[in-house]
Amino acid sequence: VRVRGIHHLGLAVADLDDAVETWERLFGARVEHRDSLESQGVDAVSLLVGESRIELLAPTGEDTPVGRFLARRGPGIHHVALDATDVEGAIEELAASGVHVIDESPRRGLFGLEVAFVHPDAVHGVLTEVVSSG
Ligand code: CO
Repeated sequence: VRVRGIHHLGLAVADLDDAVETWERLFGARVEHRDSLESQGVDAVSLLVGESRIELLAPTGEDTPVGRFLARRGPGIHHVALDATDVEGAIEELAASGVHVIDESPRRGLFGLEVAFVHPDAVHGVLTEVVSSG
């Protein structure tokens, strides 16, 4: 799959506002967007850090994907998002090579982006998101 670069790193945090404050204070991060995905039980903030982007993810409850991640592994890196030119094409190419893609077709992710997730077992334990910045 053709990739332009890393679009963002997704970090699981327990307290969104506290994490935003930490990134602003320590690394001069600037808030780019705030969003929530009710279907995923997640509140999120995207931060611009220099030329790169961090996505902070906080669960709205324990029985949510990020809530379970925090309970199991604690706060930290949740996923890596790659900027691909064509999410649908990426899914097709990956699936055709036998890779376990979680999303069979692109779905609406945070911040209005089209996304698809690749199973961590296919990428050495790293949940990998494919997004297109357009
Ligand atoms: Co993401």
